Amino acid sequence: MPTLENTADAAPSIADAPTGTSEHLVAAGAFSETERNAVYRAIETRRDVRDQFRPDPLPDALIRRLLEAAHSAPSVGFMQPWNFVLIREAKTRERVWQAFHQANEEACAMFEGDRRAQYQRLKLEGIRKAPLSICITCDTKRGGPVVLGRTHNPDTDVYSTVCAVQNLWLAARAEGVGVGWVSIFHEDAIKAILGIPEHVKIVAWLCVGYIDELYDMPELAVKGWRNRLPLDKLVFEEGWQDCEDM
Ligand SMILES: Cc1cc2nc3c(=O)[nH]c(=O)nc-3n(C[C@H](O)[C@H](O)[C@H](O)COP(=O)(O)O)c2cc1C
Repeated sequence: MPTLENTADAAPSIADAPTGTSEHLVAAGAFSETERNAVYRAIETRRDVRDQFRPDPLPDALIRRLLEAAHSAPSVGFMQPWNFVLIREAKTRERVWQAFHQANEEACAMFEGDRRAQYQRLKLEGIRKAPLSICITCDTKRGGPVVLGRTHNPDTDVYSTVCAVQNLWLAARAEGVGVGWVSIFHEDAIKAILGIPEHVKIVAWLCVGYIDELYDMPELAVKGWRNRLPLDKLVFEEGWQDCEDM
């Protein structure tokens, strides 16, 4: 018999709403310098990893920490629209790689001349090499038809899910684990492989595994595809400003 706490529809009634919540307010000072440095280090050295994965499996406790980090993400109306589908089977990853491969050929054809040749040389996934894939999805129906904060922008469920992806990505960096985000596939092809229902969107396919080294700057910059834009050109004061096409 499920308890009230663990039933899916255990939303508190208005009568249950607490009158005093101040005992939940805790100190919010800055972190120590060492802690701050660690946070910024994870942010600045996080990389999209495509090829440096080791084959050894990740311990369950570590995977759990990554998922807890993802599940701590902000979400519109506390909707928590994410699910995490863990895929370790090589056979399934091979089918997903085939879907990637087909879409990647289509993508390649969208570029012209030298750019196409350059695209062909890039490795844009680690689906078969990384021992674990995590498909992170967004359930557009979670929390019912009217979700606080999502009333005027339905895309906020996907924004929330992306926050979960980024949390996992940063936690993985701190754990010495590489993550590579693959988005080059037809969503329906992956949904069919994993049996994902229609109202659930695929937000990210993540290739995950231990790494011993990683690039010190985005691989696409290392390989001459595109450089980081100067931050100062992206910051406007008090309103939109003219900027050349970047
Ligand atoms: C939404 C999203 C989709 C992405 N899809 C791919 C992809 O299909 N293949 C790939 O190689 N990298 C993909 N990336 C990684 C980006 O190319 C990478 O983040 C960017 O080049 C900057 O490099 P960095 O993450 O190492 O800093 C994706 C990143 C995001 C945020």
